[in-house]
Amino acid sequence: MYSDKVMDHFTNPRNVGEIRDADGKGSVGNPVCGDTTDIYIKVKDGIITDIKFKTFGCGAAIATSSMITEMAIGKTLEEALEITRDGVANELDGLPPKKLHCSNLAADGLRAAIEDYLGKKKE
Ligand code: FES
Repeated sequence: MYSDKVMDHFTNPRNVGEIRDADGKGSVGNPVCGDTTDIYIKVKDGIITDIKFKTFGCGAAIATSSMITEMAIGKTLEEALEITRDGVANELDGLPPKKLHCSNLAADGLRAAIEDYLGKKKE
């Protein structure tokens, strides 16, 4: 049912944890299932230099969160904002149709973390 890449990121998730002095944090929840994701980023010169996540959710949510951290690190904020839900799912060689919605947490969490950072910068 799941691709090898999904199983790999689910059983061995990358960049798990929390960044205490994060420059931006995004917290999102899926109202249907109750699963949640927190994404933390460090930003230097407009580039995401560190990223961590904590996901309380299903295997697909954990795998997509893990994958999105690998996709976003080293990218500019503009590039990272272009990472879509479908983009993460494709990078994992697809998700079962019923689990596609689970990739929303990762993509929305990353976007929320970037928006949090940009909002703070304006203050
Ligand atoms: Fe909730 Fe997958 S079932 S995010």
